[in-house]
Amino acid sequence: MTDLVRLEVEAGIGTIRLDRPPMNALNAEIQEGLLAVAAEATTRKDVAAVVVYGGEKVFAAGADIKEMETMSYTDMVDRSVLLQEFTKAIAAIPKPTVAAITGYALGGGCEVALACDFRVVAEDAKLGQPEISLGIIPGAGGTQRLARLVGPARAKDLVFSGRFVDAAEALAIGLVDEVVPAADVYTAARARVARYVGGPSYAVRAAKEAIDRGLEVDLETGLEIERILFAGTFATRDRAIGMRHFVDKGKGPAPFEGA
Ligand code: CAA
Repeated sequence: MTDLVRLEVEAGIGTIRLDRPPMNALNAEIQEGLLAVAAEATTRKDVAAVVVYGGEKVFAAGADIKEMETMSYTDMVDRSVLLQEFTKAIAAIPKPTVAAITGYALGGGCEVALACDFRVVAEDAKLGQPEISLGIIPGAGGTQRLARLVGPARAKDLVFSGRFVDAAEALAIGLVDEVVPAADVYTAARARVARYVGGPSYAVRAAKEAIDRGLEVDLETGLEIERILFAGTFATRDRAIGMRHFVDKGKGPAPFEGA
């Protein structure tokens, strides 16, 4: 258990709150904590969607450089597994997820945001993968997820240079989905996923899995993943509810049960 990260649940939305002032630097304790809260958000029935939030000032300025400074190669061989596992755990939450970004999302902080489905940022936010200026490269999924999101050339520009991207550029290159005044970031992020509360959660889960797994494989295999998951939705009550509602009353919203 750690106080540095917690899951707060309200109105069907779980907020994963990073809480390590001043910069939410991601040390091993917070990384372990993220693993635990991602598992909790995954299993809790009262959580339909997730916001990852670092508070009003900063999202996260990356892995804890002070902790890493004295680590040897073999120390990092061991630790690098956790670095990838905690972002994998966030990416694997089978519910819509959004990063609510104020201030900085750098290095491991940007990688946490990349592991979410969506990113809502403050007008004055700065994102980037500045690891190169420390003589290292991103190690929590940045080289992979950034390239998949914005394309290889833009990812290489950001990772080779380590430069910070402002909100306007981040929106233009597809790194983020929405830019709002700083004071509205958390509310806007909640609004983005609130629409999934009370929805057909197993269909949303199948859609996320089809898209994410499909991106990792060739088209034929991806189509096969889609076909199996599509057919699987016919085993849910919500499929029956949605179709019966349409036939009886026309276009939704149907009274889904999340089952
Ligand atoms: N790790 C440890 N401490 C950090 C930190 C980090 N990633 N980022 C900031 N801090 C600390 C600073 O050392 C400082 O501590 P002290 O008050 O004890 O001196 C405090 O937070 C405030 O930071 P600054 O004084 O630097 O604040 P600023 O407003 O001038 O600058 C900043 C803010 C631009 C975020 C700057 O702190 C910065 O560049 N941080 C490092 C960003 C970075 O390189 N991130 C990548 C980390 S490596 C990584 O993440 C690897 C991976 O892929 C997993």
